[in-house]
Amino acid sequence: MQDQLSALLAKAQSELSALKTRPEFEAAKARYVGPNGELTGLMKQMGAVPKEQKPALGKLINEAKTQLQTQLDAALRQIEAVELQAQLGPAVDPSLPSPDLSRGTYHPLTLVREEMCRILRKVGFNVVEGPEVETEYYCFDALNTPADHPARDAQDTFYFSDAAGFGNVSKKSPSEKYLLRTHTSSVQIRTMLKGHPPIRIVSPGRVYRRDTSDATHSANFHQLECLYVDKNVTVRDLKALLDYIFTSLLGKDTKTRFRTHYFGYTEPSFEVDLSAKHLPKVNKEWIEIGGCGMVDPTVFEGVGYDSSVWSGYAFGMGLERLAMLMYGIDDIRYFYQNDVRFLKQFA
Ligand code: DAH
Repeated sequence: MQDQLSALLAKAQSELSALKTRPEFEAAKARYVGPNGELTGLMKQMGAVPKEQKPALGKLINEAKTQLQTQLDAALRQIEAVELQAQLGPAVDPSLPSPDLSRGTYHPLTLVREEMCRILRKVGFNVVEGPEVETEYYCFDALNTPADHPARDAQDTFYFSDAAGFGNVSKKSPSEKYLLRTHTSSVQIRTMLKGHPPIRIVSPGRVYRRDTSDATHSANFHQLECLYVDKNVTVRDLKALLDYIFTSLLGKDTKTRFRTHYFGYTEPSFEVDLSAKHLPKVNKEWIEIGGCGMVDPTVFEGVGYDSSVWSGYAFGMGLERLAMLMYGIDDIRYFYQNDVRFLKQFA
């Protein structure tokens, strides 16, 4: 019996190690340990063995069974390894450069936004963000923009229905409406309420107006807002900052000028024009780029700042307009169509 068992194990060893597939494995397993298997057959012979030989023989058979099981396990692991290898395909060398095509590029609006923030950070401005869903208080009332101002008209502003709720934007009074902010100036109020002077912030972000889309209008676009609050701030400081920003961004030949204007939240207020003939497709002497002014005392008082102590300036401008000037883009809709042929040009 011992010889038979050894012969069986030796045969199994050479046979099992040559198996390549699961069906082959299952068939081999049945040949040895199935109901009619070879080992099963030897075990059946136990019945005919004299009683006194049974324990020794039983031990031998059990040992052979364990060994055979080890051989079967090894054969199965080998087959699994072959299957996995087939799934993974040929080996790769992870140290080689990626075969993918180009790495992608920044969107032109991102490029302009980041460059403006970099320029402003250099002179001490912090970048802050505000919510795109706003309340009438932050977008209008606190900015001294009364209820009858055209900006508040439903024709110009996207209001939410009264049932809409936004957990992260709280209303000052239950009767006011939620809306999509029409400008980033709302961040001025949020910043002043949260902190205290001196304040120097820049806040880029998306804004919304009820505009019909055409080459120069879009219902959502991007602005960049600046606010500076300190003692003894003057219009000269404002003009100096704008000169610094635009010469840094567009080159030293760039000029800025102010035209008087009206904004509820600044007094005096100005529109800012740029002159930068060296830019592509610029054929006008002056191009309007944004609005600015000295923070109105009413706004300061509204956020609890003593307007006899604190002074400041604010300005806001459209990022699309600036990007269009810088890159010679003549249709605002290109920014939002995600045409790779357009986007690739700003690598
Ligand atoms: N919020 C104005 C707009 O959207 C731009 C603006 C004007 C921003 C004057 C300011 C400012 O901070 O002082 O047209």
